[in-house]
Amino acid sequence: MRKCPFGPTGMRVPVIGQGTWMMERDRAASVRALRAGLDAGMTHVDTAEMYGDGAAEELVGEAIAGRRDKVFLVSKVLPRNAGYEDTLAACDRSLRRLRTDHLDLYLLHWREQPPLEPTLRAFDALMRAGKIRHFGVSNFDVGDLEEAHAIDRRIACNQVLYHLKERAIEHAVIPWCERHGLAVVAYSPYGEGNFPTGSRTLREIARARSATPRQVALAFMTRRPSVFAIPKSSDVKHVLENAGAGDLRLTDEEIARIDKAHPAGPPKALPMI
Ligand SMILES: NC(=O)c1ccc[n+]([C@@H]2O[C@H](COP(=O)([O-])OP(=O)(O)OC[C@H]3O[C@@H](n4cnc5c(N)ncnc54)[C@H](OP(=O)(O)O)[C@@H]3O)[C@@H](O)[C@H]2O)c1
Repeated sequence: MRKCPFGPTGMRVPVIGQGTWMMERDRAASVRALRAGLDAGMTHVDTAEMYGDGAAEELVGEAIAGRRDKVFLVSKVLPRNAGYEDTLAACDRSLRRLRTDHLDLYLLHWREQPPLEPTLRAFDALMRAGKIRHFGVSNFDVGDLEEAHAIDRRIACNQVLYHLKERAIEHAVIPWCERHGLAVVAYSPYGEGNFPTGSRTLREIARARSATPRQVALAFMTRRPSVFAIPKSSDVKHVLENAGAGDLRLTDEEIARIDKAHPAGPPKALPMI
């Protein structure tokens, strides 16, 4: 499994991780799938207090019990729970549900009106208390990134929407993150059920590389060393397919073909789900 340097610390995590949004709908299957992903080297596990109102964190806590030290564990605080005191309290609740004493990374889920400084100050306090190792943001466009970075330069990553039909972040967000040493975490890398299964280009490259079209798509999205992806699956077969993308490196010619078949489109404001 290829590793991605994570943010300014250079921490290395597997380039393909596991998302957990809406996993709680099939709890037993999801626990099995997460564990299969860990066994396959997908040790970056992304969750959030929002997912199932805490149920996804509880499920992750069950899946990683006994192997916490092998997991790069990420959760997120909702904007409505941001601010100084509320972020500290939200983190404690997440830790309890996840049955752990620390997160590897804690993110502000998206930007809303309240000032960023108290939340970033809470992240700093959580780091000093050993409750989180790193912090970052999610769904931040360049303006928000500028503002956050001016307050604290230790922001490790920006988690943003990125898939073959939604490549807007390539214009400004990825270049900004690369210039400032932030990793980019691609969420919904299959476009939330909107995957271009009919793509002839993906199928041809997949056949030539003994891979699958989805593995080729993940390899395309993680072609830059700054970017990694967190597909969600509650199906062990799918998880193993996703893990298989971690070792696939596309050639420049293959990248150019995919770029032509699934173009980035014009610059626009940051899309989000
Ligand atoms: N920061 C944010 O605001 C934000 C927003 C959205 C998502 N996220 C994070 O990103 C993660 C991934 O995004 P997502 O869950 O929206 O969508 P996604 O990963 O793009 O797609 C998930 C869908 O793809 C299917 N799938 C996964 N692997 C497959 C495979 N190999 N073959 C066929 N189908 C496959 C899953 O079904 P099966 O379960 O049946 O495999 C599921 O229906 C989330 O779980 C969450 O952790 C973050």
